[in-house]
Amino acid sequence: MAYYRINGGKPLEGQVTISGSKNAALAMIPAVILAGEPCIIENLPIIEDVHVLTEILRHVGADIELNDNGCMRIDPTGIDRYEVTFEMASKMRASYYMLGAMLGRYGKASLALPGGCPIGERPINFHIKGMRALGANVEIRNGIVYAEAEKLHGAEIYLDMASVGATINIMLAACRAEGTTVIVNAAKEPHVVDVANFLNMMGARIKGAGTDVIRIKGVSRMHGCSYPVIPDQIEAGTFMIAAVATKGNIVINNIIPTHLEATSAKLMECGARITEGDDGSEFFLQVQGGERLRAIDIKTLPYPGFPTDLQQPMMALLTMAKGNSYVTENIFEDRFNHVPELRRMGANIRVNGRTATIEGVEKLYGANVKATDLRAGAALIVAALAAEGTTIVHDIKYVDRGYEHFEQKLRALGADIERVEE
Ligand code: EPU
Repeated sequence: MAYYRINGGKPLEGQVTISGSKNAALAMIPAVILAGEPCIIENLPIIEDVHVLTEILRHVGADIELNDNGCMRIDPTGIDRYEVTFEMASKMRASYYMLGAMLGRYGKASLALPGGCPIGERPINFHIKGMRALGANVEIRNGIVYAEAEKLHGAEIYLDMASVGATINIMLAACRAEGTTVIVNAAKEPHVVDVANFLNMMGARIKGAGTDVIRIKGVSRMHGCSYPVIPDQIEAGTFMIAAVATKGNIVINNIIPTHLEATSAKLMECGARITEGDDGSEFFLQVQGGERLRAIDIKTLPYPGFPTDLQQPMMALLTMAKGNSYVTENIFEDRFNHVPELRRMGANIRVNGRTATIEGVEKLYGANVKATDLRAGAALIVAALAAEGTTIVHDIKYVDRGYEHFEQKLRALGADIERVEE
């Protein structure tokens, strides 16, 4: 198994370019099934989750080519299997999008209950409620979801929580349904909008993505298209946090500043300096860490609130701020697995229910730590970059799932990080 060896204490300096959005990409790849014709997706991040999803699509019969620049051509015309087995589904959460896409295109799908990072219970009851409302017969037997429909029809579907996965999955299933579907209390994350734009390029008729209410007018035919994925706001946020944690000064290219407003606001509240720029063709952000940071409070919320996916890296930063910070995780009930690992590095954190109290310390120190999930891994890397001494971050397979060329990008910013294959 691979690990990172990081010699901390070096301020990050220089420029970094952000890759395509993981969570948009993971929905767009299965979405191509709906087109019924080849599609090209550009600016895909080359990460482990993309490879796993590619395997899943190949397994059902799609023909896929991916080049090193993140350009993927998917031809779904050869699909002749409608099941995603346990071996595949258990490797990743986003396998659930195969359900909406295959049901929407072929009227049938079976999917082993999805896996993914261990950050909470993560049921898919909203997805299933949505498919049933669209007229599908859905049953769960022996850990497998079987969905079937002679014809899907539009419906009004209220989501009890603004779930990203359920919103996108229902959009997928509804694109080719008869009549209009309305999703109320829909998720508003930037990647929901990006996936809706992608589907519209394929001929879907979706309006309202990015607001609470999304309307999907079913169409009988969709077609191929070419589409670039938006930049990943979580990757950008991770670099912003790492720059501030190391008292560095970096420029982040290929970003959409509005997607980063909550992150920028909280980092500035801590004492960081963030300046937005536009070089005529692209936006960029300059992020500078201050001297000793101030403690702040964070509450994770659906977009445009502070993203749960940055809660863990942000907590790593706050372990070194002056005073007590309070971090409340409102989205996932068990996203504190990084806490015992940060404690090994000298952090002072107490968890009570969904809130962590962080008493800032002067310094973190290098230690042996273990990534337990993707963003826990990112948090430990942030901590290690800022810490005094050497940190070994084990189990970086989780980090590989979601960050493209992470160590190369960090090394280019001056970090002393080495990947070691055991
Ligand atoms: N929920 C239910 N039932 C459902 C669906 C969700 O109770 O059927 C609950 C969840 O348990 C959670 C809340 O609703 O408490 C929100 O979950 P959501 O459905 O929004 O999350 P997700 O679709 O499982 C995606 C991302 C996550 C990201 C969340 C929130 C993908 C593949 N995953 O997960 O990404 O944290 O949205 O923004 O898109 C990550 O990138 O590290 C990551 C975990």
